[in-house]
Amino acid sequence: MADNYLGRKMEEYFAEKGRPQKRYKVSLTSLLAKNRSHRAYDASFKVREEQLLQIIGVNRLVASARNQQVLRFRPVLGEEAAQLVPKVRLGGALPEMHFPPVGEEPNAFIVICSEKEGRYVDIDTGISAQSMLLRAVELGLNGICIAAFDRVEVRNLLHLPCEPLLILAIGRGAEQVEIAEIGAEESHDYYRRGEKHIVPKVRVEDLIIK
Ligand SMILES: Cc1cc2nc3c(=O)[nH]c(=O)nc-3n(C[C@H](O)[C@H](O)[C@H](O)COP(=O)(O)O)c2cc1C
Repeated sequence: MADNYLGRKMEEYFAEKGRPQKRYKVSLTSLLAKNRSHRAYDASFKVREEQLLQIIGVNRLVASARNQQVLRFRPVLGEEAAQLVPKVRLGGALPEMHFPPVGEEPNAFIVICSEKEGRYVDIDTGISAQSMLLRAVELGLNGICIAAFDRVEVRNLLHLPCEPLLILAIGRGAEQVEIAEIGAEESHDYYRRGEKHIVPKVRVEDLIIK
């Protein structure tokens, strides 16, 4: 310690402490903006079970009709995820493209099921799905809601004890997605501009009932 190593480290520590902290701003608006649907994923990034459990964990905090909490969640990883890929249909508005592209398939899913039928189950499902996708974005991941799948096939494949309603793919998105503002009368179909995936969203003035 001839060069007063510890003394210098202490000085550096206190200098750092006095400095205003750089804060990483995570606002709801930034999470919503990043929360774009991805149909291609970085296959070298393997989603971990613990990440899926953290995402599913938001369901302890969300609203539920009559607080019945009828939804159940099945994490899907590994070989099961590979078997689920061909059972889901992505990018119906772009039939000329093949989604997911070969080699960019998602390697993790959460299947949302309901224990009971009921008038508000779909509403609960929407609240749950969006909350989980926002948590995924907060964890640096991406996802997509998938309703285009055969419920019987998926139920059998995963030996589900209850009805699958919606599937979330989760992973590190490999798409460039941009929002384009549109008027309510313009086409709502998503499209490609070069490598970019463009998602039209109706401008706020056109959403308001006057
Ligand atoms: C309930 C629901 C079901 C969906 N099902 C599918 C699907 O089966 N396949 C698909 O490619 N995208 C599906 N999507 C994703 C939508 O196409 C996507 O949300 C829309 O294009 C807008 O893009 P954004 O999520 O980036 O805002 C679904 C979205 C929702 C909310």
